[in-house]
Amino acid sequence: MLNSHIRYDASADALMLLDQRHLPVREDWFAVTDLATTVYALQVMVIRGAPAIGVTAAYGCYFCARETLRETGGAQGWEEALKARLSTLVEARPTAVNLRWGVEHLAAMWDERPGIGLPALATVWLDRARNMQLEDEEINKAMGAFGANLLADGDRVMTHCNAGALATAGWGTALGVIYSAVEQGKTISVIANETRPFLQGARLTAWELHKSGVPVTVACDNACALLMKKGLVDKVVVGADRIAANGDAANKIGTYGVALLAKAHGIPFYVAAPVSTFDLRCPSGDLIPIEERTPREVTHPTGESAIVPDGVPVYNYAFDVTPAELIAGIVTERGVLKAPYTESIARIVARPY
Ligand code: MRU
Repeated sequence: MLNSHIRYDASADALMLLDQRHLPVREDWFAVTDLATTVYALQVMVIRGAPAIGVTAAYGCYFCARETLRETGGAQGWEEALKARLSTLVEARPTAVNLRWGVEHLAAMWDERPGIGLPALATVWLDRARNMQLEDEEINKAMGAFGANLLADGDRVMTHCNAGALATAGWGTALGVIYSAVEQGKTISVIANETRPFLQGARLTAWELHKSGVPVTVACDNACALLMKKGLVDKVVVGADRIAANGDAANKIGTYGVALLAKAHGIPFYVAAPVSTFDLRCPSGDLIPIEERTPREVTHPTGESAIVPDGVPVYNYAFDVTPAELIAGIVTERGVLKAPYTESIARIVARPY
């Protein structure tokens, strides 16, 4: 199993991230030390995946506090300077709600401590970020235990993008379900859709499953219909970046197509996501903001030569939304939700631990 790819190095006072841009070729580490490097790491996807983004955002709040302390010395007016930094952080990526969730969670801790000084707040936030990282892995293991019961011995599971250990603090959401099923003694094999244009499936999902000894085969995104028609897919399990109050789920571009194809072939399509990925402020998936990324990801997939003629525009929407009616169940750390999702989501989100 993958050792933590997110490490807080206390001696350097830096967050060390396994740089996912270079996997599977190189295992480089990227040091995050301030707001600018946090935002950069999120935007260029040194670190990506909704829960991992949430944890990184929590460390980012700490860096914002530390930087504000350096700038203002904690003198009058530091609150405004800190809030401005948090606003920049929260805007780093628009679709994964875990970013907002992480920042709001830490901001609420500030609200609960009126009169707290900046050095003390920085300490509170660093402790919380470190705990949030540990909790995320526990949450994924709980989710995995529920989700594993949906998989049968011998299942061939298709997944899209990377919703594994690399996309979280550890274990993973969709891949966590698979790891837990394997831990139960089931034989599970995985089809990882390559996931153009950033290739999270080919580069990251295949890398971590292979490293963990789970059989994985990579398929081009456009092979999905054929593989289903040939009877090679028993179930689909994917992660999510934001789930609206009605169960519509945003995930990596291409997921919606996979869900439609699963429906056409009578294959159950599951989403696995922690409660922090639900956005009750968003009544339906139509309101989920969809990130548009640089055309270069599409035109220059290896970073070097172009595969699209110069001057031709491209679409690079990073996410799409799968309507709730295509989802057979949503696996969370509190159980598996079934339709009607508006009721089951409201119930599970309101439930205390
Ligand atoms: O653009 P990315 O790589 O951050 O997108 C990631 C995904 O779409 C994942 O499937 C999602 O965040 C779930 S991660 C457990």
